[in-house]
Amino acid sequence: MDGAIAVIGAGGAIGGALTRALAGRYPGAALHAFARRVPGSPVAGAAHHSLADYVDEDAMARAAGMAEAWGLVIVATGILHGPGLRPEKALRDISGPALARVLAANTVAPALAAKHFVPRLARGRRAVFAALSARVGSISDNRLGGWYAYRASKAALNMVLKTASIEAARRNPGAIIVGLHPGTVDSPLSRPFQGAVPDGGLRTPDAAAAALLDVLDGLTPADTGRCFAWDGQEVPP
Ligand SMILES: NC(=O)c1ccc[n+]([C@@H]2O[C@H](COP(=O)([O-])OP(=O)(O)OC[C@H]3O[C@@H](n4cnc5c(N)ncnc54)[C@H](OP(=O)(O)O)[C@@H]3O)[C@@H](O)[C@H]2O)c1
Repeated sequence: MDGAIAVIGAGGAIGGALTRALAGRYPGAALHAFARRVPGSPVAGAAHHSLADYVDEDAMARAAGMAEAWGLVIVATGILHGPGLRPEKALRDISGPALARVLAANTVAPALAAKHFVPRLARGRRAVFAALSARVGSISDNRLGGWYAYRASKAALNMVLKTASIEAARRNPGAIIVGLHPGTVDSPLSRPFQGAVPDGGLRTPDAAAAALLDVLDGLTPADTGRCFAWDGQEVPP
């Protein structure tokens, strides 16, 4: 790996698994893991940093300044439910404050990460900025409805990534900026909804992380601006 590696949201199930997988795949690389809390069992080979809040722009700028050039940056933050927050079934369930919370975690945080990390992607070689999105952020693939805030936040994230890819390509032709759909992964985020998952459809965070890193390894600058699932298939806009 040319350039340093960052995982933003390393305290999550997939973010943690990505950090472990990256430490194994690129031993010796400068691997920085950012989370709101430094873990009790740090990943060997990773430098752990606490980032009080993913929407604190000064903190994000300081994080991006920790390396001269980044070879790979993955943003793994995101929320779907939580205290006082449930995915909407119908228009009547929409709440302004809840929508704002979901947009902050799923769109604003990765957008601020893009603002500060993309200009520091390594130049003259392949360098990747990826954010965990979701298939339900696909507008053309929306057949079931519901989940207004989550769907809207991921669709908006995909647009941020696409727009950043156009801007970055002008200055850094080796930059690859993509969204990633990890599949349905066993994590606190998916736990209340796992009943609807068909047998064999739920992946472990470690399996998802390995698949996502394989997908990233296969991308070229021609793929920038798009969103890819864990199996390498493109998620349509
Ligand atoms: N699990 C799935 O089935 C699935 C499916 C499709 C897409 N995804 C996407 O994959 C990503 C990771 O999900 P996960 O399954 O690993 O979930 P998770 O274990 O619940 O991790 C959530 C991540 O989001 C961060 N986070 C939590 N609350 C936040 C807030 N209010 N503002 C900003 N960040 C916040 C956490 O930060 P800390 O690291 O600081 O704790 C953690 O990194 C999300 O973007 C999710 O939408 C997951």
